[in-house]
Amino acid sequence: MSDLAVIRDGGVLIRDGKIDIVGASKEIEKNARDTEVIDAGGRVVLPGFVDAHTHLVFAGNRLDDFERRALGETYEKIAAAGGGIWSTVEKTRASSDVDLLAQANKHANWFLKSGTTMVEAKSGYGLTVEDELKILRVMRRLNQETRLEVVPTFLGAHSIPQEDRQSPQQYVDLVIKEMLPRVAAEKLAEFCDVFCERGYFDIEQSRQILTEAKKLGLKLRIHVDQLSNSGGAKLAAELKATTADHLEKTDQGGIAALKSADVQPVLLPGSVYALGSTSYPRAREMIDAGLALVIATDFNPGSSPTVSMPMILSLACTQMKMSPAEAITASTVNAAYSLDRGDKIGSLEPGKRANLSILDCEDYRELAYWFGFSQVHSVYVRGKCVHKNAETL
Ligand code: NIG
Ligand code: FE
Repeated sequence: MSDLAVIRDGGVLIRDGKIDIVGASKEIEKNARDTEVIDAGGRVVLPGFVDAHTHLVFAGNRLDDFERRALGETYEKIAAAGGGIWSTVEKTRASSDVDLLAQANKHANWFLKSGTTMVEAKSGYGLTVEDELKILRVMRRLNQETRLEVVPTFLGAHSIPQEDRQSPQQYVDLVIKEMLPRVAAEKLAEFCDVFCERGYFDIEQSRQILTEAKKLGLKLRIHVDQLSNSGGAKLAAELKATTADHLEKTDQGGIAALKSADVQPVLLPGSVYALGSTSYPRAREMIDAGLALVIATDFNPGSSPTVSMPMILSLACTQMKMSPAEAITASTVNAAYSLDRGDKIGSLEPGKRANLSILDCEDYRELAYWFGFSQVHSVYVRGKCVHKNAETL
C-alpha cells in the first residue's frame, strides 16, 4: 500500500476512453500523432478516487441534528427522539423520484468536482418496498445521466421503520420476502448491506437478511461495530462478505476474523469526525495484519456530510496514522477491488478506464497535507473532461 510507483515527468496516452500507455512523457509524445495534448504543467496526476461507501440518494438535510450535536446531544439520543435516520426517511418517502434525482444530481457534481469518479451508493432511506425501489431506480438513472459512475447497494435494513418498531421481525420478514426478491429480479443492486448495530439490526437478524441476499446472487458489504462492538466483524467473516464497513469498535479478534476470510475493511473517518467522536478504527493494526484496507467518505446527511476524499485522506493520516501513500492506495485501487472492478479502474495502467484527475500540487503528499480546500485542477472520466477549476480573477 505504500508503494505508489510514481513516474516523474510522466504522461498517459488515452485512446477511446481507455489508458493505452503510461510512462515517461517523452516516450508518450513519440507515440502520439494527431492527438490532443493536455499539459498537466508539472502537477500531480492521480487515478480518480473510488468512494466505496456512500448514502448518495436522500431528501433534505439534517441541519437540526447537526445543531443539536453541536450543543452536546449524541447521535443515538437524537435518533431515539425521532431525529436521525428516521427523519431523513420521512422526507425521502415524501419526495418524488424527479426531486430525488435532482438532489442526487447536485451531489454527483460535488463528487466529480472533488476528484471522485466512481461511487458505491446505498439505498436505505425508504424502508418500504416501493420507496426502496424508487431510490435504487434513481441511482440507475444517475448512472445513466451523469458522468459519475454509480455501483448500487440495497440497504433496506438501515433502520426499523417507525410503523414496525413494536415488531421488528415483521420488518426483517418484509426485507427478506418482498424487498430482496424484487431488487434481485430487477437487477437494481450488486450488493446487499445491513446496519448491524444495537437498536438497529442485531447479529441474528443481519445473518438472516444477508444469507438470503447471498442466495439471490448479491454480494455483501456490512455496517458493523460502529457504535458498539457486537461481533459484527466476525459475522462479516462468517458470511464471507466482500467488505466490513466502519469497524470503529472492532478489536484484535475481529481484525483476525476479517483476515482469515479476506474481508476488506472499509474505514470511514469522516463519520467519526462529524459525530465529534475520537474513536477512530485501528487502521494501523489492520494494515499490519495484511488487510487490503479501503477508506471512504460515508457521504450521508446524518453522520458524514462530506463528498471530499481529500478530507478523508487528511483524517486518515492525522487521526489513523496512515501514510499519505497508504491513504491514496486505500481510496483508489483497493476501493476499486472492493467493488469488484480492480481490473477496470483505480490505477493508471494500460487497459483501464481513463478516469483521472490533475491536482494543483507537485507532490502527492500535499493532497493529504493541505486541508479544508480543494486542490483539484481538473477531472476526467473515460478520457473526457468533466470538471475544470475556474481561475481566481
Ligand atoms: O454509515 N450507520 C448507519 N448509517 C449511516 C448514517 C446514516 C444517517 O445518519 O443518516 C452511517 O454512518
Ligand atoms: Fe454508512
